[in-house]
Amino acid sequence: MAAEKENSVPEVAIESLHGDLMDFQTQGAHGINYHHLYTGTATLSSCPPVLMRIGAVKAITKILDEVNVGYVIFDGTEPNPTDNQVDEGLAKLKENDCDFIISFGGGSPHDCAKAIGILATNGGKIHDYEGVNKTTQAMLPVVSINTTAGTAAELTRFSIITDTSRHVKMAIIDWKITPIIAVDDSVLMIGMPKGLTAATGMDALTHAIEAYVSIISNPVTDASALHAMKLIKNYLRDAVNDGTNLKARDMMSYAEFLAGMAFNSASLGYVHAMAHQLGGLYILPHGVCNAVLLPVVQEFNAKEVPILFIDIAEAFGHHDIRENAELAVERVLRDIRSLSKDVGIPRNLQELGVKPEDFELLAENTMKDACGFTNPRKPTKEEVIELFRLAYEQ
Ligand SMILES: NC(=O)c1ccc[n+]([C@@H]2O[C@H](COP(=O)([O-])OP(=O)(O)OC[C@H]3O[C@@H](n4cnc5c(N)ncnc54)[C@H](O)[C@@H]3O)[C@@H](O)[C@H]2O)c1
Ligand SMILES: [Fe+2]
Repeated sequence: MAAEKENSVPEVAIESLHGDLMDFQTQGAHGINYHHLYTGTATLSSCPPVLMRIGAVKAITKILDEVNVGYVIFDGTEPNPTDNQVDEGLAKLKENDCDFIISFGGGSPHDCAKAIGILATNGGKIHDYEGVNKTTQAMLPVVSINTTAGTAAELTRFSIITDTSRHVKMAIIDWKITPIIAVDDSVLMIGMPKGLTAATGMDALTHAIEAYVSIISNPVTDASALHAMKLIKNYLRDAVNDGTNLKARDMMSYAEFLAGMAFNSASLGYVHAMAHQLGGLYILPHGVCNAVLLPVVQEFNAKEVPILFIDIAEAFGHHDIRENAELAVERVLRDIRSLSKDVGIPRNLQELGVKPEDFELLAENTMKDACGFTNPRKPTKEEVIELFRLAYEQ
């Protein structure tokens, strides 16, 4: 993914895209391409195209310089951040006596910043905080500036860190690790190449669907999740096909935020519990793992909660379902697969290089992942192995 070409947008193109935004208002976008007429300043007009030219990190440091806030840059976070990277970041923070953290990028830097923030005030190793609400002290303040439309890590109480000795991704879920400020600006997302746009968008869809079928969902999370699904169904293809389409980027930014609001309270399910193991063992992109597992796990869930798929089908634009849950499940699974295919997600785990001889270990670790606790149907370890097999062969 890193080798893909980034979108580069000349200033004049940004200006003309801003012009394109003049006919819509984000708040009125109902995911069906109806928009109230716009009467004020465009949503994104205050975002300087200069960010694209001089490098976004410089744009942040310039502001810090102007207001006389000292800083040190830690650029050691890689995709799927590890316990060792957290330790390196913490060492740098302590050496320089920093009193807050700004994370800039996608889910990986946000999660790493949260983990560093936890250790700065709670002490110990990051492994001590795996699970739910294990910290005792507020973390060091974190400001998260987000550049992908997927994880919502900029606003959630989750931090996902790879344990390099066990090769598993630890889920640290804790109300004390919410960043104090989350910045979502779709102009910062224009540079995402197609593969990253697709993977992160499918991550957001997975958040929305897992939150919706979660056993601890509530009407607020349901509303957020359903609207996120509607936006992703309508705009992810456009964002992938033309990364400079600001309307699609903006809608995907709102979608990932809404999906994040949903799963932050309703939590997730077995797609994430299983995807974390694939990410930890093979260092695969998180959103791609989710996208491949999503239809298989939802087919499994649909046996327990078929009725929930009627609303998901409705959000996907199927208004002829009525009470027919069986038809709803069929349409939802078909739509997930065709969206994945259209945005270029690999078809199965085989294409991702996953090895069937690892299924046993992957399933063993899946059973311990805190994200699985809220899945509507509880699989046995053997059933998880079967789910991995189905995702391998589909
Ligand atoms: N904390 C949570 O709530 C939560 C939820 C889901 C996933 N996650 C975790 O988040 C991580 C994945 O994060 P991600 O999918 O946002 O990707 P990422 O942060 O791992 O970034 C992937 C790559 O994209 C590049 N990139 C980021 N923004 C870019 C942009 N605008 N233009 C061009 N390149 C850009 C990065 O430099 C990196 O090389 C995984 O470790 C996953 O487990 C966390
Ligand atoms: Fe995710």
